[in-house]
Amino acid sequence: MRALARLALATVVVAAPLAAVVAAQAADDPTPVTILASDFEDNTVQGWTGRSAETLAVSTTVAHGGAHSLAVTGRTATWNGPSLNVLGTFEKGTAYTISAWVRLADGSDNARLSVERRTDGTATYETVVGNTAVTSTGWVQLTGHYTLSADVDFLTVYVETASTTASLYLDDVTASYVPALPVQTGIPAVKDVVTEFPVGAAITGAEITTLHGDLLARHFSSITPGNALKWDATEPTENAFSYTQADPLIAFAKAHAMKVRGHTLVWHNQTPAWVFQDAAGATMTATAENKALLLARLENHIRNVAAHYGDTIGTWDVVNEVIDESQSDGMRRSDWYTITGLDYIRTAFKVAREVAPSAKLCINDYNTNVAAKRDALYRLVVELKGEGVPIDCVGHQMHVNVSWPSIADTEAMLRKFEGIGVEQQITEMDVSIYTSSGESFPAPPADRLLSQAYLYRDMFALFRKYRTDLTSVTLWGLADDNTWLDTYPVARKDAPLLFDTRLQAKSAYWGVVDPSKIGGTSSPSASASPSVSPSVSASAGAGGCAVTYRVTGSWAGGFQGEVTISNSGTAVVSGWKLGWQFTAGQTVAQLWNGSVTQSGSAVTVTNAAWNGTIAPGGSASAGFLGSWTGSNPAPTAFTVNGAACTVL
Ligand code: XIL
Repeated sequence: MRALARLALATVVVAAPLAAVVAAQAADDPTPVTILASDFEDNTVQGWTGRSAETLAVSTTVAHGGAHSLAVTGRTATWNGPSLNVLGTFEKGTAYTISAWVRLADGSDNARLSVERRTDGTATYETVVGNTAVTSTGWVQLTGHYTLSADVDFLTVYVETASTTASLYLDDVTASYVPALPVQTGIPAVKDVVTEFPVGAAITGAEITTLHGDLLARHFSSITPGNALKWDATEPTENAFSYTQADPLIAFAKAHAMKVRGHTLVWHNQTPAWVFQDAAGATMTATAENKALLLARLENHIRNVAAHYGDTIGTWDVVNEVIDESQSDGMRRSDWYTITGLDYIRTAFKVAREVAPSAKLCINDYNTNVAAKRDALYRLVVELKGEGVPIDCVGHQMHVNVSWPSIADTEAMLRKFEGIGVEQQITEMDVSIYTSSGESFPAPPADRLLSQAYLYRDMFALFRKYRTDLTSVTLWGLADDNTWLDTYPVARKDAPLLFDTRLQAKSAYWGVVDPSKIGGTSSPSASASPSVSPSVSASAGAGGCAVTYRVTGSWAGGFQGEVTISNSGTAVVSGWKLGWQFTAGQTVAQLWNGSVTQSGSAVTVTNAAWNGTIAPGGSASAGFLGSWTGSNPAPTAFTVNGAACTVL
């Protein structure tokens, strides 16, 4: 029973002092309300139990605060650990900050903090704080952010480890929240101002309750269930369909006369493993038999899910993220593709059209503002439409940040798909306050919020200009208290939406609704136009780069690492390749925030689309999982775009 990270990347952790975020907000913020505090100072276990047969007892051997902690001994599996029932303590829709101090009795490992929730006997494991290195030599704080999004009949907070069964200590566990303020009534509704197309928000169960529901219905005219219509939610086991997550969201939309975007029928993520297992339960290989089985499952899935909602869902993201522009044919090497080729896309659209004849059928992808990506998507759409595949629309996700992309690139994206007989939709827009994965702010800096407001202003002006092409614009979330960017690509508090953590209108809201009210003093053009000219060639930037290499966690045979490139030169780095040599046979198994190749001991990491640009003084980071035997020394030399860097 391992905790399932919903995305592998969610296991990466940057210690983000979330309590500080709460404390550092607007002056009218009340103190966070603490709803749980376990310090074990009364010499009892304060309701904590083991997840299995391990032993929990108060200890005075070590303590983080006071004289007592909770000792957990006799663990026989990594998932064993201390667990606290919080059913009735955590309310749906409220964003909690959870903090726990952990220390091992022996050795070193990674610990994580999670929530287990169950609805009608089905368990879901949600990572609050991913793998974080812990040892026996000191206390480590696990702190993260959690919003319960479903009605549950079982709810616990627990701590487990990644690889060993060492005894551990727990102390000073707290959970707190900052109460939302009343929904503002004296400001215009976004949907009343932007009338060219429906404006939507992606939602979870948390967003249809009380204040969140009021805010949603007041400002938005469309919803997209953020997770509830994905395959793992609707058909967790074969042919056993479940609509318990999505139905309440769709009912809310109906009750408020809102449109619904169905997201998504086919994706490579959040799809249960059984889908890609053959009749004997083995992982499918690319055989004709497996292809037939997979396409039959796909057809059965779409027939059930699309039929369940009929006309209520006006638009479907039929396929999601099928493009990989780095492949020669532009196609992502998902199991779908390797087993069926393009037939999964053909089948998905054909069956969706048959079952939902009046729904608009979209192909949805991210980074379509990047030329190579949009060109690959364009080629595919033209090819498939040429064959008669019923593609009605192209969805642009638009997960962007305060300094990327430029309006020009975004306009090029929209123009590319004009005149080929498709509508276009902005399907998942959010504007991260971070410009690289190495950043983490205790509270959103004022200048970033201002840049964000100007970016929203300029993007919405562009979208409205393209009203004949664009048929909807959806934001990936309602308010900053509940955003997927709090855990992706690393754990840190982000603030990418129009309303803040207390549901109040941000400058970003005014950027959309009335830019004259944005306020602040920094120059709009600094954010509205790209700070980087695309013509700057790849270089390490007038002779300056510095690299930090850190092992952030280590266990028998494996380790987690992080590399950060700092641009200490005077020119912008536009696209980077970082190289190093391992000296003890280590290998990189998996890397995030970039892509990796390894040849012998030589490792090359290439930037991801969103962190290729490093301004002078700026930095970019990538994290990875590696393996080692014997010893694991850090590399001593690094190059960026071929030039040697200072090692920090
Ligand atoms: C995200 C959800 O918001 C998260 O809650 C979940 O853990 C992972 O998926 N592109 C997509 C969406 O198409 O489905 C993703 O949604 C965000 C990126």
